[in-house]
Amino acid sequence: MLLAFAVSGACVSCSFISTAQKPSNETIQEQTANNKKLNAWGNQKEMDAFINDLMSKMTLEEKIGQTVLVASYWNVTGPVSEYDYVDDAKEGKIGAFLNARTSDFIYRIQKAVVENSRLGIPMMFGFDAIHGYSTTFPTPLAMSTSWDMEAFKTMAKITAKEAAADGLSWTYAPMVDIARDPRWGRIAEGAGEDPYLGIQVAKAQVEGFQGDDLSDPFTVAACVKHFAAYGAAQAGRDYNTTDVPERALRDMYLPPFKAAVDAGVATLMTAFNEIDGVPATGDKRLLTDILKNEWAFDGFVVTDYTSIYEMTHHGNVADKKEAGEVAMNAGVDMDMQSDIYKNYLLESVKEGKVNESLVDEACRRILEMKYRLGLFEDPYRYCDMERTKEVLKHPSHFEAARDIAQKSMVLLKNENDILPLSKNTKSVALIGPLADNQYDQLGAWHTAGTPETVTTILKGIEQNQPNVKVNFSQGCDFEKMDKSGFKEAIEAAKKSDVVLLAMGERQDMSGEAASRVSIELPAIQKELIKEVMKLNKPTVLLLHNGRPLAIEWEAENIPAILEVWHLGSEAGNAIADVVFGDYNPSGKLTTTFPRSLGQVPIFYNTKNTGRPFNPEDHFTTRYQDSSNDPLFPFGFGLSYTTFEYSDLKIDKTEIGADDVLNISVNVSNTGKMDGEEVVQLYVRDLVGSVTRPIKELKGFEKIAIESGKTKTVNFQIKPSDLAFTRLDYSWGYEAGDFQLFVGTNSQEVLETSFKLTDSNEVPYNF
Ligand code: BGC
Repeated sequence: MLLAFAVSGACVSCSFISTAQKPSNETIQEQTANNKKLNAWGNQKEMDAFINDLMSKMTLEEKIGQTVLVASYWNVTGPVSEYDYVDDAKEGKIGAFLNARTSDFIYRIQKAVVENSRLGIPMMFGFDAIHGYSTTFPTPLAMSTSWDMEAFKTMAKITAKEAAADGLSWTYAPMVDIARDPRWGRIAEGAGEDPYLGIQVAKAQVEGFQGDDLSDPFTVAACVKHFAAYGAAQAGRDYNTTDVPERALRDMYLPPFKAAVDAGVATLMTAFNEIDGVPATGDKRLLTDILKNEWAFDGFVVTDYTSIYEMTHHGNVADKKEAGEVAMNAGVDMDMQSDIYKNYLLESVKEGKVNESLVDEACRRILEMKYRLGLFEDPYRYCDMERTKEVLKHPSHFEAARDIAQKSMVLLKNENDILPLSKNTKSVALIGPLADNQYDQLGAWHTAGTPETVTTILKGIEQNQPNVKVNFSQGCDFEKMDKSGFKEAIEAAKKSDVVLLAMGERQDMSGEAASRVSIELPAIQKELIKEVMKLNKPTVLLLHNGRPLAIEWEAENIPAILEVWHLGSEAGNAIADVVFGDYNPSGKLTTTFPRSLGQVPIFYNTKNTGRPFNPEDHFTTRYQDSSNDPLFPFGFGLSYTTFEYSDLKIDKTEIGADDVLNISVNVSNTGKMDGEEVVQLYVRDLVGSVTRPIKELKGFEKIAIESGKTKTVNFQIKPSDLAFTRLDYSWGYEAGDFQLFVGTNSQEVLETSFKLTDSNEVPYNF
């Protein structure tokens, strides 16, 4: 049984009066054509005929049954149904399962349902495979610092292959919530603070999970989540209210979702939060007006866990039945685990509170997905036990995980070139709660990932650098104020040439329901670091975390810091590769690192204000007790080599509606090692009908440059790349002057300028 709470209060209708100007019909048509990708897969006519025929045989109860998604007992994040869901499924009362897994278990449920239910409609089985399945890849935030879209695609492809080999047809990924608040633990699950990067990462993952053909049994249906603005939870507290104005929603939070829809994402998950007083799961404007009508999304919408029911707590509905009505009327096709469609929808239809055509539409969308997945052809296509054995934990998947983990580290500081360590180093002290820790390297939301797949740092150094003596001592726990291990750790440090401190967060200190008001290293770890620093040894902090941390003291006092996040199964090997110079770090931050929590929210694409900071003028935007500048800006990351930028050129100084601005810059590797650099392109729209950010990322390219060599990097900008939500709420670009910046991070840039001579409305495409 679901937990039940009686909520009294006024019933709020879900109708929404949009302040936004509706896009023109041509704009919508253009987008519709663009988005019909899902329908292009397979033979539409045959599918329609099959589904029409099937639906003509279905009772209303059976149609409602398709809209019900029930949790099994793995990885649950809320209440679980107590009734025997398999019996209900046999009666056609359930359409899909989540969190059930293993090909054997799923085979048995599928068989029971297909063989016993009246129409034999197969189930979809969904699971949170976010950064790996049996092979665990770095957390998504870590992976985003690789700025490598092929890496994301590879991760998603392998994850899909493993999940599909273990009975699953559906994954609840990618998570594309833009997040600007490090207190919010789920910042670990996304690609950071920037919408442009978020768009690329969303596309790459959808393509990776789904491939070109949903019916390929080595791929799964993806589910882009959480629609929308979940990352804007007030005070960074998970599930909290958001106040996101229409313009910020369109400019900042929605673009990655639109990109996922255009990439053909099969399903979309609603968010737990309310936006401007309307819970996202009951928001008709979001789900029907924008997603299904304006964007022509032709997959299906599923809620987050019990979020229809949670409207009874939000207080926009009086009871569960009304919650179901609001959700269905808003455009929710499938109810995850609230059991509200299952128990109340029939009555609501009979009473005329929900139009039966909406149930038909939801049912059709779900059946279409089952059809596209090939489940009607073969309900057991994901349940081949031989395939499970062959595919899960395949060595090639670990090779890919190592490669991606190498790319997902960010070198934050490297005084006197402490790193890379020479392979002739005689001894290193390896200290800290993450030094020989398998479980926590899995990171947040590792779900099917298991600790025995993880190579720890200790193991990684021992097996890759057999000539280096490792003096290991854990030294302290993550948070427990117990100093009994300090002595041994100090001894280990004293007798070693170099000290490596493997410090930071446990895997469950970020992720869902893992918000924190302190984003510093836990006190006990700080104390141990301070003790070690007194020895004046060459010391490197290997920083593990699921979120940006405020490490001002550490950044001032520790000579080298390598941001290693939680890197998954191959963490230890990849860290050894970077520490000993077998891989030259190339990651760049995708979230701003604050000096202190007091600066939060802090992000690079901020506005100028009416009183921009001026050190000479007191009455300008500033803190009394801190600089405005972050500790490490968005886009920041060092390498073992150095890069110099020169010759920033644009091919014209003015562009009109039909022009393209060609940009080039020379990047030279001026250091002694070959390396990779993420070259970043930003613009600033100097005057708009509404205020514009002081910088916006508009392009990037990751390139390898040999030591001593120079490469020319080219970018292009079209006027539509400069579009935003204008004063009248239309999406378009405006004539005016722009600054253009290219550089190694969002602060260190070369600069030029150009003029855009036209203004136009354009489709909301990315
Ligand atoms: C999370 C979702 C997840 C779902 C199913 C929820 O608690 O918010 O991201 O997909 O559980 O496991």
